[in-house]
Amino acid sequence: MSRVFSGIQPSGELHIGNYLGAVRYWVELQDQFECIFGIVDLHAITQPYDPANLPERTLEMAVGLLAAGLDPAKCTLFVQSQVPQHVELMWIFNTVTPVGELERMTQYKEKSASLESIPAGLLNYPILQAADILLYQAGQVPVGEDQVQHLELAREIARRWNARFGDPFRFPEPMALLTGTQRILGLDARAKMSKSLGNTIGLLDTPEEIWDKLRPAITDPARKTRKDAGEPERCPVVYQLHRAFSPPEVVAEVERNCRSAGWGCLDCKRVLADHVIAELAPIRERALALKQRPDDVRDILAAGAERCRKLAEETLSLVYPQMGISRPDRRFL
Ligand code: TRP
Repeated sequence: MSRVFSGIQPSGELHIGNYLGAVRYWVELQDQFECIFGIVDLHAITQPYDPANLPERTLEMAVGLLAAGLDPAKCTLFVQSQVPQHVELMWIFNTVTPVGELERMTQYKEKSASLESIPAGLLNYPILQAADILLYQAGQVPVGEDQVQHLELAREIARRWNARFGDPFRFPEPMALLTGTQRILGLDARAKMSKSLGNTIGLLDTPEEIWDKLRPAITDPARKTRKDAGEPERCPVVYQLHRAFSPPEVVAEVERNCRSAGWGCLDCKRVLADHVIAELAPIRERALALKQRPDDVRDILAAGAERCRKLAEETLSLVYPQMGISRPDRRFL
């Protein structure tokens, strides 16, 4: 069975952008594949951050993922820094990755453009990502559009390591597996949903908070009054969210009532809010319960990391000897 790996940064509380774009899909994958999901704190430190609240954001992300439905009985959930082998394999990959390839990465260009001094970690970010994937010999990697380039680089790194050292051991080339959902547009209809832009709904928001955020969401600009007919395709936010949260018959009803001006935009948002609230309510409940038992969450992460260290060692025990490095007994086992 093909192994699946994906990672998410510890940005704190999950929001519906991460949820629709990735996590809801991960929850489905855990029934079909052997899945490993990492909270990638070592990636998060490549950008300015506050060390004082990183532990809290990491734990909150774990709570969110578990509440959203990741089940430690079905998948492995761990924190990247608890498996130091990621950094070891990254260093090894550093020796076969051309700097030119790293400088071509769109995300690197965007993030480094405004910086006077660029940390090497920002440039090397995709090498760590390649190590995440190849350490577990993952064949499938669910990522959004913006990470496809990093995935291609991971394949290139695997090819280069194989060409130089790989005989007879080979890394599988990670396969891109796109999430069914595209980038989720923010409630302001301007940028991708993100917590820092405040244009999203938190997975743990209360029904009142959800409604307060949906009520002013942008709709089809042609609908100036309640009697103007609209086009769902031109309603960037509310229609998108209906398709994500509402059952197909409701989506059909939304389309009909928008075109015929049967509903006002506010009616349409009210129906949407009901469906968003219905889906998020059990998640919120589970999250509140998990927050009461942080040690249980830490135990889940510790067990995940232990399993990952074993798997990672299997890979490194093949990688190092092929590179002419023999290691004595390893401390982590
Ligand atoms: N770079 C990814 C992101 O920002 C997160 C990530 C880190 C990841 N390592 C990974 C995704 C390995 C997939 C596989 O979204």
